Amino acid sequence: MDQEVKACYIHIPFCSHICSYCDFCKFLYEEKIVDQYLLALEKELTSSYRGEVLDTIYIGGGTPSSLTVDQLSRLFSILGLLKKAENCEFTIECNVENIEPEKLSLFKKQGINRISLGVESFQDHLLKKLSRPYTRKEIIETVQQIRSFGFTNLNIDLIYALPGESIEDLRKDLKEALSLDVEHISTYSLMIEEHTVFYLQGVKEVSEEMDEEMYKLISQTLKEHGFIHYEISNFAKKGYSSRHNLTYWKNEHYYGFGVGASGFLGDIRYTNTMSLGKYCRYEYPGTEEKLTTTTMVENEIILSLRTTEGINKQKFIERYGKDPKELYPIEELLEKKWIIEEVDRYRIPEDKWYVSNEILLYFIGEK
Ligand SMILES: C[S@@+](CC[C@H](N)C(=O)[O-])C[C@H]1O[C@@H](n2cnc3c(N)ncnc32)[C@H](O)[C@@H]1O
Ligand code: SF4
Repeated sequence: MDQEVKACYIHIPFCSHICSYCDFCKFLYEEKIVDQYLLALEKELTSSYRGEVLDTIYIGGGTPSSLTVDQLSRLFSILGLLKKAENCEFTIECNVENIEPEKLSLFKKQGINRISLGVESFQDHLLKKLSRPYTRKEIIETVQQIRSFGFTNLNIDLIYALPGESIEDLRKDLKEALSLDVEHISTYSLMIEEHTVFYLQGVKEVSEEMDEEMYKLISQTLKEHGFIHYEISNFAKKGYSSRHNLTYWKNEHYYGFGVGASGFLGDIRYTNTMSLGKYCRYEYPGTEEKLTTTTMVENEIILSLRTTEGINKQKFIERYGKDPKELYPIEELLEKKWIIEEVDRYRIPEDKWYVSNEILLYFIGEK
């Protein structure tokens, strides 16, 4: 199986503040360190990118928008090394507190055509709890500003199941999100991760019943308002699914550049070093796994069953020479109605996505 690489993720790990719940690879913004980081990023790209034409490029973080205009210009000049397909989806993650007209103008000029804005909640009391440094009013002004620069593909991230959040709070957040008329909404149930302030403070996740009720409310409300629930946590208007994230879920190849970034090339899945010091000294490697066919197939199943596209029978046979039915207890799952079969695919019906982890156990031999 030798797929072409058509996607590239670039990690910008800097943030102007650190949120009490975040366990991602991120560091507090420091001008000089960012400058060194960009040098290292340039060297990594120059030495590892092999010139493929890319369909999607995703600049994620951290908070890419925390960089100064000059640093962002430098970043785009480095990314000029990458060959973009004519209709390449080119996304950048931004936070409300550091979007400025000059940055938006630069993004436009550099071909960014998708912005992902970390909103999380519209309620000032919940934003405070999350230690997010902006208000509902600023979110709305930021979205208007983004639109005024002609960006027509906008995602917002929302977090739900916060301690103390009621169903009514969530209803309000969904109403506000819908009133912004964005093209894409990603929703995440708050996870309390080790090494975060929330964890150290003993903050607990909400009950499973509450989490499920909230998940169902989100799915139902967004669907009623014309969104397609195309992946467990993601909703898009028609034609606006994230092509970049679909690369991951379709188990396709991608580059990952930057500290802590992951990539999948050939039969290797790798993650760069998490150490900013090492990265800036050009010591990029972190961990690497050479996939066996069994792991490759398992990954493919686990990832593709997260989406409405599910397992594409034809593609699966082309890649692995067998119908998934020959390898997995699909009949049993079909009987339970945990999997449905369509002409060209198997997929988990949306009303079972909440228990998808349990369903996936059947594919990794634990049931
Ligand atoms: C790592 S952030 C990067 C983008 C940007 N810095 C931001 O804060 O929006 C991407 C998204 O991950 C989600 N996230 C981060 N930590 C989380 C956690 N502990 N539980 C659930 N979602 C989380 C948030 O919705 C956030 O928008
Ligand atoms: S949630 Fe976003 S802004 Fe907050 S620390 Fe993590 S990456 Fe930075």
